[in-house]
Amino acid sequence: MINAIKKEMKKFLEEYYNNEVSLTVEEPKDSKLGDISIPVFPILKAKHLPLPAVVDTVKTALVERFKIIKEISNVGGFINIVINKEELSYNVVSEINKKGTNYGQSDLGNGKMVVLDYSSPNIAKSFSIGHLRSTIIGNSLKLINQKCGYSTFAINYLGDWGTQFGKMIVAYKKWGNKEEIAKDPINKMTELYVRFHDEAKLNPELEDEAREAFRKCELGEPEYLDLWKYIREESLKESKQIYDLLEVNFDSYNGEAFYNDKMDPVVEELEEKGLLVEDNGAKIVRLGDDMPPALIKRSDGGSLYITRDLAALFYRKSEYKFDKILYVVGNEQKLHFKQIKRVITLMGYDFQDEIDHVGFGLYLTNGKKMSTRQGGVVKLYDVLQKAIQMAKMQIEEKNKDLANKDEIARKVGIAAVMFGDLKNHRELDIEFDLENCVKFEGQTGPYLQYSSVRIASILKDKTFDINNVDKTLFDKPHYFELVKQLSNFRSVIERAANESAPSHIAKYLLGLAQSFNKFYSLEKINCEDEAARNTNFALAKAIRTVLNEGLRLLGIHYLDEM
Ligand code: ARG
Repeated sequence: MINAIKKEMKKFLEEYYNNEVSLTVEEPKDSKLGDISIPVFPILKAKHLPLPAVVDTVKTALVERFKIIKEISNVGGFINIVINKEELSYNVVSEINKKGTNYGQSDLGNGKMVVLDYSSPNIAKSFSIGHLRSTIIGNSLKLINQKCGYSTFAINYLGDWGTQFGKMIVAYKKWGNKEEIAKDPINKMTELYVRFHDEAKLNPELEDEAREAFRKCELGEPEYLDLWKYIREESLKESKQIYDLLEVNFDSYNGEAFYNDKMDPVVEELEEKGLLVEDNGAKIVRLGDDMPPALIKRSDGGSLYITRDLAALFYRKSEYKFDKILYVVGNEQKLHFKQIKRVITLMGYDFQDEIDHVGFGLYLTNGKKMSTRQGGVVKLYDVLQKAIQMAKMQIEEKNKDLANKDEIARKVGIAAVMFGDLKNHRELDIEFDLENCVKFEGQTGPYLQYSSVRIASILKDKTFDINNVDKTLFDKPHYFELVKQLSNFRSVIERAANESAPSHIAKYLLGLAQSFNKFYSLEKINCEDEAARNTNFALAKAIRTVLNEGLRLLGIHYLDEM
């Protein structure tokens, strides 16, 4: 809050002197001297004026321009300013009440385009809890970037191509039964996939058959393409169920298969630029001593993950003209994205710095990676349903006469899972503990929803006049602390955008809710004195606005009751 004023003062004074001086606006060495200190020596030097004249002019100009100055004095060439905290706080609270959900908006990204690649499940497999992180983080980053003025384009780059499809097709042809699969496609296909892996352990030729089957897809053999289409369609249904629950959506579902016919030009360009080398029948690009080469073509002519990603990258650059592209993909793929950047740089392109791999850690259970293959099959859809059930149980306990219990339980359960993820810095591994995430107390999504609901119930059917408030209350530490936090909202959002880290917003909201709950325990909000009551209501409303908007940026619903 004071930082913003410092910046404004610096700008104002520099403009006042036609940008011929450059000033530093700092904090006084001793806080007794005030909140802001401005050394005027650069002005003396540039303008060849005597000290008293400069001090006088600067003081007068500042006082005229900044109404929130309470006291201004000088010690030699240092001008010291005490800020009127009451006025400042009042400005923050009334700004939030006026702007509503537009509060915190930033122009960081004005006119710029960011493409986000997230979720991107491999659809011949069951949608795993591993892809949950990408979906949740990516969705939040989209909302955060929008809040900062970026245009966004959200792509679900489905893993709908590659040898795993060959495996599915082989399994389907050997052991599949069309009628049975049609009844319960997702489960039946998962079973087929698991069976393939089991049988391939005993019978490794199956792997060759799978590669051959995928090759036939790539070459466009109708029988294989039809099967591919069927499998893709059916497994996409499972993902869509999950997206519906989470309420996330995409601007495009162009997955890897979409690029099947767009790779040749890339390979040709690599060839022309002399970057493609033969290696045991395969084609690779050497990337230097610090990185393994990129395998571009298999010896059987088949393409690879990186080949498709390169084609996708060039397509997106020319189609969406992004200023930045975010790949929300697990840390395990760090090398893959480094290789992509190196390849395009070797090709002579200069946009590698626009490419950002937004990596994230694993979900662990008892310290071990959660897995979707053989054995510990964890289905994300089931996990989400369980979270919703657990939320419902708590609602039954705490507020059993609530209307729309199911709807609210869904929003609380999903909030629990999403916030349980987003409060952690994305690069860390997370020990998955559903029970803790769903609690209404502690560092949870439901706790934040509950804090917002608490304010809603205080304000229910109340009105207040923001022009009749008691500004002296803002001098009390528990008031001022809240105002300070509220005023930081925008800079927290910008930091989250710059670092692609929604956790900054999540942590901020926890801090805000904690301060509010402390405030609530110290202060009777609906008090006798009218001006004090108006102040409390206006502050509480501002807090709720910021809590709700912050939750929205994480992809989480706020509630009026729970
Ligand atoms: N489908 C991939 C996987 O699950 C993730 C794709 C990420 N996006 C990308 N452009 N490579 O591993």
